[in-house]
Amino acid sequence: MSVFNRDDDDGISRGERAVLVLPDIAGTKAMRSVEARLDEAAGLAAAIGIEVVARRSVRVRAPRPASLFGKGQAEEIAAAVADEKAGLLIVDAALSPVQQKNLEEMTKAKVIDRTGLILEIFGERAATAEGRMQVELAHLDYQAGRLVRSWTHLERQRGGFGFLGGPGETQIEADRRMIRDRMARIKKELEQVKRTRGLHRDRRQKAPWPLVALVGYTNAGKSTLFNRMTKAEVLAEDLLFATLDPTMREVKLPGSGKAILSDTVGFVSDLPTELIAAFRATLEEVLAADLILHIRDMAHPDRDAQAADVEAVLESLGLEEGKGPPRIEVWNKADAMARDEREALAGEAARREDVAVVSALTGEGIEALRVAIVERLGSGDDTRAVTLSSSEGEKMAWLHARGKVIGQDSDGEHITMKVRLSAVDWARFQAL
Ligand code: GTP
Repeated sequence: MSVFNRDDDDGISRGERAVLVLPDIAGTKAMRSVEARLDEAAGLAAAIGIEVVARRSVRVRAPRPASLFGKGQAEEIAAAVADEKAGLLIVDAALSPVQQKNLEEMTKAKVIDRTGLILEIFGERAATAEGRMQVELAHLDYQAGRLVRSWTHLERQRGGFGFLGGPGETQIEADRRMIRDRMARIKKELEQVKRTRGLHRDRRQKAPWPLVALVGYTNAGKSTLFNRMTKAEVLAEDLLFATLDPTMREVKLPGSGKAILSDTVGFVSDLPTELIAAFRATLEEVLAADLILHIRDMAHPDRDAQAADVEAVLESLGLEEGKGPPRIEVWNKADAMARDEREALAGEAARREDVAVVSALTGEGIEALRVAIVERLGSGDDTRAVTLSSSEGEKMAWLHARGKVIGQDSDGEHITMKVRLSAVDWARFQAL
């Protein structure tokens, strides 16, 4: 599903030439350099096959309600669009529907803003039923406010819905109603899907392996690490958002342990608030995780700002540092760092138990990461004595497999075991 119909001449198609403009708005805090922000936006565009042929930042002293940019600036942008023969203008900010419409008229090109761009990517990458529904909801919501635009998905599809004729006031009303109805229907379906998923999660919770969730900034190397650790062939490409919905695989740990590793969608800076529900749907597994691995691209110049973004999203999900499941920061792309910096980072990591330096690409540090996972998973271990009857062989076997049995005593009929297990596993044991 997509906001833009790719088979339609009016829609965005792969290979579309685009001019990218970053409004550098006075008075707004920016943790990143203009260059890095342009790079990120170009990366997002590349993720859905758009070719950015020109890029620039435009200093905006006072945003205009009608067009965001000043008149002269808008004319310059229109000239760049014409010079480059671009069919699309990407504005890396949130545009109001009116601003979007006016810019389309001024530039004679299609205009999408940051929300539209990310929605496109979510739409293309959503893999599960829930992911798709959440994205469609976000799309419809976005569209509902944009019916004043000179071109919309709905207008182009009108033939199919039997809405022919010009977009008069009643037409817009009819479209709004159609959107509202569709949204209501999706919300109902979502409830159903959530209930079913809840069942799956319950089942998974009882699975005998802890859940380890990978999170990280887009392009940090999550999919590469996931593949490296599980030897699975999931899509790893030099594109942002190679994954939207969590992918789960079994991973072997030192000793006879195992865990379920779950890959998630990449984080981006300034995720538009209206997209948070769609994004959140992809992060359900993180909320249920026993351990979170935060993958960081340590070779990236903006690594600290990226980490702060990830932290902010985790916090918004109620996973403040020190509150949710234990975490490991995985400092990735060690191979791409200068030697002295790499050594400095390795020194710092050695002093901390929650950091592992790795290269998902070369495999360096991966075995040490596996050990760290086992240690962190066990860091909240709790020793208890359990008395079982001799008929409860299965439970006994479970305790031997999952925990560390420290002592065992039998009176012929009952066996008392002293076992060390994590709090999560004790809860699982209780549910057996
Ligand atoms: P999203 O799905 O977009 O969130 O990205 P991701 O975090 O899953 O990143 P992915 O694994 O797709 O890797 C992104 C790019 O970084 C790819 O080109 C990888 O080859 C590269 N990469 C990943 N790990 C390493 C590493 O350890 N060293 C180097 N040099 N490159 C790496």
